[in-house]
Amino acid sequence: MTKRIATMLLAALGCAPAGQPRPAHFPPSYANVPSNWTMLDRTKSTISSQAMVVTEHPIASQVGARILRAGGNAVDAAVAVGFALAVVHPTAGNIGGGGFMVYRPNAGEVVTLDFREKAPAAATADMFQNSTGQLTETSVIGHLASGVPGSVAGLTAAHERYGSMALSALIEPAIQLAEEGFALDASRARAFTDTKVERFMRFEGSRAKFLTDGSPPAEGTLFVQPDLARTLGLIADSGAAGFYRGPVADLIVAEMESGGGLITHQDLLDYQVAWRDPVEVSYRNHTIYSMPPSSSGGVTMGETLNILEGFDSLPFFASTPQIHLTAEAMRRSFIDRNNNLGDPDFVDLPLDRLLSKDYAAGLNRTINRNAASVTPEFGTQLREGDNTTHFSIVDADGNAVSVTTTLNSSYGSSVVVSGAGFLLNNEMDDFTGAPGQPNQFGLIQGEANAIRPGKRMLSAMTPTIVVDQDGELFMILGAPGGPRIITAVTQVISNAIDFEMSLVEAVGAPRIHHQALPDQIFYEPDALNAKTIRQLERMGHTVVERDGYIGIISAIMAVENGWVGVADPRGGGTPVGY
Ligand code: DON
Repeated sequence: MTKRIATMLLAALGCAPAGQPRPAHFPPSYANVPSNWTMLDRTKSTISSQAMVVTEHPIASQVGARILRAGGNAVDAAVAVGFALAVVHPTAGNIGGGGFMVYRPNAGEVVTLDFREKAPAAATADMFQNSTGQLTETSVIGHLASGVPGSVAGLTAAHERYGSMALSALIEPAIQLAEEGFALDASRARAFTDTKVERFMRFEGSRAKFLTDGSPPAEGTLFVQPDLARTLGLIADSGAAGFYRGPVADLIVAEMESGGGLITHQDLLDYQVAWRDPVEVSYRNHTIYSMPPSSSGGVTMGETLNILEGFDSLPFFASTPQIHLTAEAMRRSFIDRNNNLGDPDFVDLPLDRLLSKDYAAGLNRTINRNAASVTPEFGTQLREGDNTTHFSIVDADGNAVSVTTTLNSSYGSSVVVSGAGFLLNNEMDDFTGAPGQPNQFGLIQGEANAIRPGKRMLSAMTPTIVVDQDGELFMILGAPGGPRIITAVTQVISNAIDFEMSLVEAVGAPRIHHQALPDQIFYEPDALNAKTIRQLERMGHTVVERDGYIGIISAIMAVENGWVGVADPRGGGTPVGY
């Protein structure tokens, strides 16, 4: 047998190729991973015996751990972290955006909290189209791009139901950080790109907050945010009313009026969070709890995993057949996502069907093991420039919280509310702005996600909690990354369960992404070797290297006698435990 035929046979069987030099520390499951893949070395992890906080900013992780040590529970810590991130991680941490929480008390039912933004009452289905029906940049930049913020309502609602410490004590660390400042780290300083600075220049409040003589703060600058400190102080004093009524509401509405935005006092007064049952999916003896609509995350991940479960076992990690089967499962669940899902308060969603094992088995049977399927219709490239943030927390009693929150793009709409010191989201771009046209993530979506007054735009955020076969907490995880959130979280769960990777390996492993349209397998830089790419192309896949990574995971996993916390090397986060 020639070497080429032997290699092809091995690949067809999904086996690891023999004879390649491997870096000494690569685990056996990484046998197919290119040897110049460096994530494993850079993954930040820590082990603790009692509690763990993993966020995308070291200061926010410290804030959460401090609250836990002071006797707060996981929800207290989550509230404190949420407000702290609004100060120290301005690309995504926010009070002007929205998000989702999955909460599993150590003994009790899993609940989820939807604090996604809503379209203002004056929003219309075609508000982002020009006279020829083309989408304009107004869904992404400027005042029209913002949905009615949900974060403050969400954090305070979670606190009201499950918190044990005073709200003001949980917001105090954020106020202090805003008032006294903190040194900008390299990761945050790098996020002030020229494009973002150009956008800040357009808005008075944003210039005042971020720019001095037209330049953003450099690494090491003490970043002080007095207006934000005042706003946080009002929330600490009056709870959600400190944001949705009174001086902060007045400043939001004045900002809207000055820039042609739609959010009114009535929109702010009308904003409500929603407590919802989680999406619950069984996967190879584990139970996965994740976010239901208005996020597509749980349903799309659940459908993908259900399809994968139809294979008795998966081929070797990162082998051509494993990538092919995973991408085909992703393709099928994203077709359903893009066509069917939207805000459950506005549209009927076929969730039982989409999440049924029978339905997944049917889809599994449509996968050809040797050839790519084709997604009907044309798509376009994914665009860059995005940010969201996820944090995972477990307290000493085993209560678990998984939260993802966002402004959508980095720095949201780029509009800071003048005088109030916080950025507004550009979440309206997550709606179907025009049929057949992609949003900033290249997603082509349907009527179920059309813009309507008071409706929530469909999200991909996937805060998730996994329980093992004994009913014990196994993993807490989530990520930013637009639609890539879903595929990143799915892959880390599959890595842990299918390939029995440690959490460091599961998060450090290379990732791919398929979202039906564009009909392409995206891979992270250096994630696939040339031979795998050639083999996938021969099967009919279009394989595209992204110039960025796929998700930034913040995760916790149960280990003997405690927890391991892992911050993805793709971001600037840190785990802190004790
Ligand atoms: O809710 C969503 O799906 C998007 N607004 C999330 C945006 C995002 O994750 C960007 N981050 N990298």
